[in-house]
Amino acid sequence: MQASLIDIQPFQADHLDAAVELSRQAGWPHRKEDWAMVLSISKGFVAVDDGRVVGTAMATLLGERCATVNMVIVDESMRGRGLGRKLMDAALDAADDRECRLVATADGLPLYEKLGFVAWGQVVQHQGIPKTPTKPENVAWAPNIDAAELATLDAEAFGADRTPLFAALAQRARFATVKSEGVIQGFAAMRTFGRGEVIGPVVAEDIEIAKDLIAFAMSERPGAFLRVDTTVKAGLGSWLAEQGLAHVGGGIAMRRSTTELPAEKRLKTFALTSQALG
Ligand SMILES: CC(C)(COP(=O)(O)OP(=O)(O)OC[C@H]1O[C@@H](n2cnc3c(N)ncnc32)[C@H](O)[C@@H]1OP(=O)(O)O)[C@@H](O)C(=O)NCCC(=O)NCCS
Repeated sequence: MQASLIDIQPFQADHLDAAVELSRQAGWPHRKEDWAMVLSISKGFVAVDDGRVVGTAMATLLGERCATVNMVIVDESMRGRGLGRKLMDAALDAADDRECRLVATADGLPLYEKLGFVAWGQVVQHQGIPKTPTKPENVAWAPNIDAAELATLDAEAFGADRTPLFAALAQRARFATVKSEGVIQGFAAMRTFGRGEVIGPVVAEDIEIAKDLIAFAMSERPGAFLRVDTTVKAGLGSWLAEQGLAHVGGGIAMRRSTTELPAEKRLKTFALTSQALG
């Protein structure tokens, strides 16, 4: 079957089970709930061949200027026929003229390069059952979440407004904070994801605060399988490995834009929400 004969349709809730099968086939750990969370804040697309979902892609719109493209998968038996490109075209159309970011796997890299994406960083994925660290005394769970306040702090680090993402996280994640005289110096979210739980995003003034936030989250979940998606630039890789979170993979952070990257601000991103969401 040629890609030109395959329908690209809006991603609906009743496509979620088929999407989970595709991600399982690609070796990704996403559960139905993880797909549903991304879909809840994204414009999604499926490729349908004779009633069967054979591909997916989503554009998560982050305010007026930025979008992430994610969950791009084509069924193994249908690859190399132009379906990936068709799905990407749908996702990029949905993003209008926003700057698009994504994290590319080795499979996706050639396609994204052809579509004008340029590498700007390296994402590294760490996971495992960590040693239980001493609980840092400067970190506490936030009893009430002000999603808008956290989104404002995140925007300083990420360079775009992710209010809908933070509203979705507020329903699913616990947030830990480090404060000094009432000012948030860093925060970390922790939520159920894939095979266990993910710590991220982690946004902080410096790497020591980021380590305290992650160590706090680890100390709260002894024996749990945890995952942290970070960047080489964040400089946490060897520390995470020492804690028992092995480096198991990652990807290339890419963007499609002619604008300069935002200048570094007070707050920086030390861990991603997930590889898909950035
Ligand atoms: C990435 C993926 C979606 C691509 O899907 P696909 O349907 O095979 O892609 P297409 O057939 O549309 O190919 C896209 C383009 O990339 C090119 N391409 C694909 N693989 C390539 C390779 N190894 N080297 C060079 N070019 C390659 C194709 O020639 C095509 O170019 P063209 O449109 O100019 O002809 C698919 O490999 C996949 O699902 N992989 C597993 C999941 C994954 O890693 N997804 C990416 C997440 S970031």
